[in-house]
Amino acid sequence: MVKIAILGYGTVGSGVYEILKKNPPSIAKKAGDSIEIKYILDIREFDDHPEKHLFTKNFDDILNDDEVSIVVEVMGGLEPAYSFSKSALLKGKSVVTSNKELVATHGTELIRLAKEHDANYFFEASVGGGIPIIRPLNQCLTANEIDEVHGILNGTTNFILTKMFEEGATFESSLREAQSLGYAERNPEADVEGHDACRKTAILASLATGKFVDYHDIPTEGITKISTADVFFAGKIGYVIKLIGSAEVGPDGKVQAIVAPRLVSKDSQLADVNGVFNAILVHGDSLGDVMFYGRGAGKLPTASAVVADVIDAAKHIHINKWVIWSEAEGDIMQNPGECVYRYFVRTSNKALAENLPGVDVIGTLEGETVFTTGEMKEKDFMQTAGGKCAYIRIL
Ligand code: HSE
Repeated sequence: MVKIAILGYGTVGSGVYEILKKNPPSIAKKAGDSIEIKYILDIREFDDHPEKHLFTKNFDDILNDDEVSIVVEVMGGLEPAYSFSKSALLKGKSVVTSNKELVATHGTELIRLAKEHDANYFFEASVGGGIPIIRPLNQCLTANEIDEVHGILNGTTNFILTKMFEEGATFESSLREAQSLGYAERNPEADVEGHDACRKTAILASLATGKFVDYHDIPTEGITKISTADVFFAGKIGYVIKLIGSAEVGPDGKVQAIVAPRLVSKDSQLADVNGVFNAILVHGDSLGDVMFYGRGAGKLPTASAVVADVIDAAKHIHINKWVIWSEAEGDIMQNPGECVYRYFVRTSNKALAENLPGVDVIGTLEGETVFTTGEMKEKDFMQTAGGKCAYIRIL
């Protein structure tokens, strides 16, 4: 019997409990052994819970119990999740997490500690909710050099954009609905300002390159400035607007990464990804394009990825599965100013169109001209147009 502890009984933690209790013989068959929840750590009281005896408020109960070999960290946030994960790994317990903030910040160290202590640090649920993407990057696609990853990586913002621009709902009511469905972060600013997608992009970029990509180095913009006019004019030229996390590896090995709303061609597979669904388009040098699609947030989809990691950890007690992710030597990031994009521009400054290359006017509305530009470096665009227009980069 493999004994586990769940840290945090919120949306994901209660989903993990539910899945593990749903069909234990099926889980045991897949893990090669039965899996028993020995503890649930939470600071709140759960007096009505059918197994209230499992609850503890003291992490030491778990840490000092040698029977517990897998710790499921689904608390979110950096502390105490970081200290708890580190202590568990130092004791040779495997840690499974959905905590993207922690993986993006301390992933390099926690992966190394797992290796040094014959344990595992698994984080499939940290990107794309229930979508398998971490294991494919770390295992199935390893014959490829991954040179591009583009993803719709935040379920809340994709849900909001779909509700607002396809169903005419307001931003506030769409966000409230996303919160009530258990999609949004505790502080929804992390979703709508792009921070959550940024951390996920950093995790994907780190796995794609095998080198730690620091999320602080990824320019990040959220969805709050997108207007109905943007969506209307983008639609006129065959595009939709999506919040995209991108990482591209140039021939010099430099990583060009950004999280921002992008105009996505209606011909792209990413254009039809709506609601809470996420999708990650990966390009490998041998395989070409491959897309991963599914529910990017929510209790059971996210918990299903966590439980799959628990099963994998149970199959590999005291056997480290190598994760391709180590400290980068030197600066591997492309200077954002050197990155090249086409831009979609909305402006009341009539002269601007004359000063930018490759301009194609789409139309005018209430004194504003809307156009696209040809390819240009970000620093050149900002020098000419920064502060004079609303703009969205084209994917
Ligand atoms: N708030 C996140 C999202 C949860 O909406 O995608 C899943 O990481």
